Amino acid sequence: MEDISSLNASFFRSESEVELKNAYPEVYGLIDSENEYEDTSIVPFLPLHRLNSISERQQCLEIISEVIETGLFTSGHFIGHIEDKLREFYDAQTCIATSSGTDALKIALKAVGVGIGDEVILPINSFAATENAVMAIGAIPVFANIDASYNMIPNEVERLSNVRTRAIIPVCLYGSTRNISEVFRKARQAEIPVIVDAAQCFGIKSIMNFCDILALSFNPFKNIGTFGKSGSLLTRSPEFAQISRQYSYHGFAEGKKNIKAQNWGLNSRMDNIQAATLSVKIKHFGVNSTKRCLLAARYHMLLKDLSCEIHLPIEQTENTWHLYPLFLRNLCRNQLISYAKKRNVELEIYYPVLSHCGDHELATSYPAKMQFRPSEDIHSSLVHIPLHNHMSFEEQNKVVEVLHDFFR
Ligand SMILES: Cc1ncc(COP(=O)(O)O)c(C=O)c1O
Repeated sequence: MEDISSLNASFFRSESEVELKNAYPEVYGLIDSENEYEDTSIVPFLPLHRLNSISERQQCLEIISEVIETGLFTSGHFIGHIEDKLREFYDAQTCIATSSGTDALKIALKAVGVGIGDEVILPINSFAATENAVMAIGAIPVFANIDASYNMIPNEVERLSNVRTRAIIPVCLYGSTRNISEVFRKARQAEIPVIVDAAQCFGIKSIMNFCDILALSFNPFKNIGTFGKSGSLLTRSPEFAQISRQYSYHGFAEGKKNIKAQNWGLNSRMDNIQAATLSVKIKHFGVNSTKRCLLAARYHMLLKDLSCEIHLPIEQTENTWHLYPLFLRNLCRNQLISYAKKRNVELEIYYPVLSHCGDHELATSYPAKMQFRPSEDIHSSLVHIPLHNHMSFEEQNKVVEVLHDFFR
């Protein structure tokens, strides 16, 4: 598996679309061959029936049939195979394949010693799973501001940490690892463990250097997704590895059947059937990421003349392009979304409500909300445009055209 950073480093070097096309005709060919789906006039944000190509679907059907023949639906050899692959890729000591990214986070929190009433720092703008994992084990989420990279501001570690802080979960949101190394440096100084929520940034090796535990998600909507829920955690610490294994399966001691080493544990190992589909998807990951990174570089080239109206994503290299965010310089988000909809292009906002703004007790009773003004300003100007593994140039051209027409 290739590291995504090197793909971006190549594609983003080009100054123009012509240069990009001349330098990478074979990647253009791959994207041009995305014609195996019926044509619709709508450019969907993420077409669910195109999450997997025809060949991915065929190969997964075959491997699922293989698992069905064996009856090994839960445990089975594909799990160990996937764990080995991921461990090697990230140069980690241990990989534990889990039933979801959310459960990988819960297990990681238990492994680093977070307990009831402890505080965990995390960014204000993540998917609910990040704060939910903290709350599921009885700990208290402490929200940090973000900057224009959409990731947590490193200085928030000093501002928010205290004697009750037991962990920090920086999130590589939309696929970018920006700020994470600095968060890790500051956390190390404060002797606080770091669990990186890398659910959206699978494929960037260096991130393993900036955490105690890495949590991944392979749910179907991720850049590499299985045919149901699944995730993984990785660590270089033998101690965290041992406790994680125990919490991932009923608190049982490793290698001792039905003998508990912890008071309790989850039932959170990845199913063999999901591991089997992941073993197929991993083979396609290189090609899918190559296409995705080239499409992202192409967006950069075709939208840069709109710089008076929009800011493009800051992080170009350490980015898996899980989502492609635009920062609108003038508050015109709703108008843009409605205009694009009328022109049959779907735009979305991930995630629509910041953690302190919801209609539930955690949000309504969250103290000192004024502290999040900087994050609110960034968030209110944010919109995402379509980008996925099997997007065609025709679809991308339509998105670019609609954006130009709106700002004309
Ligand atoms: C940032 C983030 N964290 C955690 C998760 C949870 O992963 P899963 O859906 O596999 O539980 C997701 C994915 O949905 C995510 O995007």
